[in-house]
Amino acid sequence: MVNGVGVLISGSGSNLNAIIKNGINIKFVVSNNPNAYGLDIAKNANIPSFCYKSLQELEKNVYKLHKEYNTKLLVLAGFMRLLSKSFIELMPDNHIINIHPSLLPKFKGAHAIEQALQENVNHTGVTVHFVDEGMDTGPIIIQEEVEIAKKDTPDTLHKKVQKVEHRLYSYAIKYLLN
Ligand code: GRF
Repeated sequence: MVNGVGVLISGSGSNLNAIIKNGINIKFVVSNNPNAYGLDIAKNANIPSFCYKSLQELEKNVYKLHKEYNTKLLVLAGFMRLLSKSFIELMPDNHIINIHPSLLPKFKGAHAIEQALQENVNHTGVTVHFVDEGMDTGPIIIQEEVEIAKKDTPDTLHKKVQKVEHRLYSYAIKYLLN
């Protein structure tokens, strides 16, 4: 089938789950973390899944899988490692995308939700962007705002942000594939 994607994960895989449920054609899932719950989600959906703890091994095998399945996008869904410059250059242009829980360039890195709350701003959001060698720095594809209520905690804000992520990522992937 045409228009297949590969997905990289490290953790709970709720975005992976949403992408599966939204009918994206996923050819393979790769994790750097053997305990990632997302690996179970992939297995239950009968998607070939693999784990490589070493980044070098992971990149080598993801490139092979990309060639084998002729995938059109590599989707990072909670993948917590920075991909190497050489791997990014090896892959086709505009091929690797990521989702981040803030309105980039604000609140880069792993604590975007907590940072938004600390800054006392009244909104944050979700960004889908192309991946370059920096951390959360590549060209932006789409963004959506999420309101922050006075009573929000990291937990409630995280839930609101993820609700948007689960819809926005599939929308962006379908847009890019077509
Ligand atoms: C998401 O919030 C995403 O924005 C960030 O990592 C989190 C992954 O969550 N890059 P999950 O593993 O998809 O549940």
